[in-house]
Amino acid sequence: MNLDACIHERRSVRAYLPKPVPREIIESVLEAGTWAPTGMGSEPWRFVVIEDPALIKYASEETKRAARQTRQPMTERFATDKDVICYEAPVLILVCAEESEIPILERVRLLDCVLAAQNMFLKAYELGLGTCYMGYIDAFLTQPDVLKKLGVPDGYQLMVPFVLGYPKNKQGAGARKKPIILNWFS
Ligand SMILES: Cc1cc2nc3c(=O)[nH]c(=O)nc-3n(C[C@H](O)[C@H](O)[C@H](O)COP(=O)(O)O)c2cc1C
Repeated sequence: MNLDACIHERRSVRAYLPKPVPREIIESVLEAGTWAPTGMGSEPWRFVVIEDPALIKYASEETKRAARQTRQPMTERFATDKDVICYEAPVLILVCAEESEIPILERVRLLDCVLAAQNMFLKAYELGLGTCYMGYIDAFLTQPDVLKKLGVPDGYQLMVPFVLGYPKNKQGAGARKKPIILNWFS
């Protein structure tokens, strides 16, 4: 696929077919992630792949529960039995990195994992798959026992959660503002 088409046409997908993603396809998406730039060449990303529907549902339910406890107005949308978190996607991927007490290292590891995620989103799109960044999981799923049950080992931090699967609908056109240039010295 042409790179411009891939960059421009990828959309966050919020409805998935109940169709498993072959293991080798998931592996090639993860592999694309590992080609991202990485601070000090450290390649800190580690992956947890969840295909078990019960565990994905658990992640969604725990996220909704934790979000509702914050009592922020926006969390009203979580008062539903529907999977408004993972959208019943067949795969949930947790990009993790080892914890660090050094703030700059923690930041570099987060940035590395985010860059890896974008590679994976584009690769997934090239392979006919959809993805969606799971910001609500990132924000609300912080309980150590829940993360442990989801396969994040002690000493590791969840950096980027995202879902993956075959989109139910064709991905639509997106729109972006033109680059806003604050300064350009020449
Ligand atoms: C940090 C971050 C968190 C996000 N969290 C969520 C989320 O929790 N649920 C969701 O449906 N989409 C989430 N998104 C997807 C954005 O809503 C989406 O990228 C944006 O609307 C632009 O649409 P596009 O990805 O289709 O171009 C998140 C995206 C980012 C970068």
